[in-house]
Amino acid sequence: MMTDKLQCIFNPIEFRDKIGESIIIRLYNPDKDRNKLIEMYANFDPGDRCLGLPPLTREGIERWIDYLSKNGYNIVAEHNGKIVGHVAIVPLENRRDVELDIFVLRPYQNRGIGQELLRNAINFCKQLGFRGIMITTQCSNLRAKRLFKKFGFITIDSDLDECYMFLKL
Ligand SMILES: CC(C)(COP(=O)(O)OP(=O)(O)OC[C@H]1O[C@@H](n2cnc3c(N)ncnc32)[C@H](O)[C@@H]1OP(=O)(O)O)[C@@H](O)C(=O)NCCC(=O)NCCS
Repeated sequence: MMTDKLQCIFNPIEFRDKIGESIIIRLYNPDKDRNKLIEMYANFDPGDRCLGLPPLTREGIERWIDYLSKNGYNIVAEHNGKIVGHVAIVPLENRRDVELDIFVLRPYQNRGIGQELLRNAINFCKQLGFRGIMITTQCSNLRAKRLFKKFGFITIDSDLDECYMFLKL
């Protein structure tokens, strides 16, 4: 999903991360960014995968990116022309809520990039008129859970492995 209207409601922002590097947060452009996003996930540390994502093979990554591009909204974090972080927002069947996934490349983690991606993704969802954001994460993923709680997400359900978090917009 990529229209001029979307570009109008999402102004790219530039900020300094915790080590002073300049990072741009902007909408994903399928024509220009597909290969860069695939490259990010091809270099993703397997130890940082969450609930089977990102896919392990290049073919799986390509299929997943194309699915997200067709069915959702995508926001990226860019450093020196390289994509280093990504948020995928996919509307749920009820069309009122969305599901959100977020990933930052290991060397860029803990630098405040996830936080900026999430802040912008939440504002974007509000502007699009969605009512809530659903996130499924691993219960053991303390860093992700801390980040989501910081933005007001609450745990609505959990089992041994998965934790379901929701933010009412
Ligand atoms: C989770 C993730 C998206 C966060 O992005 P990030 O850029 O590293 O996050 P930030 O630097 O903005 O914030 C991380 C916060 O977690 C805190 N943190 C770091 N390690 C932590 C830990 N082990 N336990 C609890 N909190 C931790 C940091 O102190 C920071 O909080 P603060 O800003 O209040 O100090 C990123 O680490 C990532 O991609 N992880 C692997 C994939 C993943 O788990 N994705 C989520 C799937 S739902």
